[in-house]
Amino acid sequence: MKVSLIGFMGSGKSTIAACLSQYLSLRCYEMDQMILNESGRDTIPQIFELDGEIAFRELEISAARKLSHIAAGVVSCGGGIVQNKICIDYLRQTRGKIVYLHADFPLITERIMSDGTHSRPMFQNTPQAHALYTLREPLYRAYADVTVDTRDLKPEDIARQIASRVLPISDLTL
Ligand code: S3P
Repeated sequence: MKVSLIGFMGSGKSTIAACLSQYLSLRCYEMDQMILNESGRDTIPQIFELDGEIAFRELEISAARKLSHIAAGVVSCGGGIVQNKICIDYLRQTRGKIVYLHADFPLITERIMSDGTHSRPMFQNTPQAHALYTLREPLYRAYADVTVDTRDLKPEDIARQIASRVLPISDLTL
């Protein structure tokens, strides 16, 4: 079973992927880390600054292509994964499921502001990020097999909910 978590920056993909991979005893793949390893740069903002967004998206496609060969794992995707549909097609290969972690924009802003925006080149200011959110939200919904609302839920509860919605009945310990 391969489960890929998609959603906007600050939707909790990394935290929930770590939790879900532990719950399902599956390896966790951080796409941003895979991209960074390939890039020869030190940070994601450095890739954007020195190589540009197009180069970053090419690395993202290449990471998704690698993951298309993997049959089992939990994948934490970058928020822009929906910008190239080919990435979603790759993640669906080998019976991959796509899960959208939904959080509304005020909650996203609150989380990003407390994290700091310095590590997120695609979140420059609130109006720009809101426009991006509006553009991407229908894509997350359209590409997802399952949508989970993350508001007011603990990562453990979200992980359990995802597992119960994506796993075949025979794999669940009832
Ligand atoms: C991006 C989101 C980031 C990272 C890169 C681009 C985006 O990941 O992949 O900065 O386009 O939304 P997170 O969603 O984990 O912050």
